Amino acid sequence: MQTIIGTDVQVAASILQQGQLVAIPTETVYGLATNALDTKAVVQIFEAKNRPRFNPLIIHVGSIAAIAQYAMMSDLALTLANALMPGAFTLLLPKLPIVPDLVTAGSPKVAVRIPDHALTLQLLQQLPFPLAAPSANVFGYVSPTTAKHVYDGLCGRIPYILDGGACSVGVESTIIEVINDEVLVHRVGGVSIEAIEAVIGKRVQLRATTTHQPQAPGQLKSHYATNTPLIRGDVNALLPEFADKKVAIIGLNTFYKDLPKAQQYLLSANGSLVEAAQHLFNIMRQLDGKGYDVIIAEVFPDEGLGKAINDRLERAQVLHK
Ligand code: TXA
Ligand code: MG
Repeated sequence: MQTIIGTDVQVAASILQQGQLVAIPTETVYGLATNALDTKAVVQIFEAKNRPRFNPLIIHVGSIAAIAQYAMMSDLALTLANALMPGAFTLLLPKLPIVPDLVTAGSPKVAVRIPDHALTLQLLQQLPFPLAAPSANVFGYVSPTTAKHVYDGLCGRIPYILDGGACSVGVESTIIEVINDEVLVHRVGGVSIEAIEAVIGKRVQLRATTTHQPQAPGQLKSHYATNTPLIRGDVNALLPEFADKKVAIIGLNTFYKDLPKAQQYLLSANGSLVEAAQHLFNIMRQLDGKGYDVIIAEVFPDEGLGKAINDRLERAQVLHK
């Protein structure tokens, strides 16, 4: 199959109407989209990505009004939707029967989001169905933040990539669920915990991390992982351990004196965590092609988008010792 990269919303819409796959731009990462109500179409997503079927998909809609067609919203969920949608924010809600079990992996809850990207909003507003879309990467690899990243992973497996430029947020959406008037965060992401707490006027609960430490290397595939082994921690303490290796560093804005600057990749010259999140996946992908033995990543400040950056880097770690 030939994979075309283009900017034509009409072409994307007509391919989706035929029950096929289109990679779509969002402000977080690119998604691999298809008609969420058509199980034959949804099956192709799992096949194209090599994604296990027990892993449910987020559905994307064009307006808050549209959410009510697919899920039930409590008052607090609606308040959050009004404040944070469109945006890098996903609500896990009780689903209505119209949403196929394949999309939710059999769960009675469906994850819904409104992406904040002009091209994709235009697309969603003209389609008579929602789009199921996971990140448009091969399962386990780093999420794509440009059309080229999507092409690198899925070329030949999908007919069309709608090119909406580089993603402005750069990490996936924050996933939350409202339970008895409490907000439970399932995945930290592009909308900060602080922003959610400002809307609800109280603290959220963070779900315990789902990162599994494999018993032996290779037993469990990690997420967001580069092919080059990545380790996260105190860079100055780790560098001597890898003295005989070709090492790259991912940091925020300060060079380390014990390694040539050319091997250090800083995510934001002025120390902005928003900008750092924007660049993270692109830098991880770039580094992967440069023949390093190991990538050492700093621990970023645990605030704002730093939480999402730390989460993704932690999940990218593989056992390498
Ligand atoms: O920013 C994003 O959220 C991007 C863009 C494309 O929208 N999407 C994304 O999708 O990151 P994905 O599939 O790579 O990650 C979605 C996460 C998965 O960990 C999945 O298990 C969880 O959301 N999820 C989806 N539906 C769920 C459900 N019904 N119950 C529990 N978890 C769910
Ligand atoms: Mg993903």
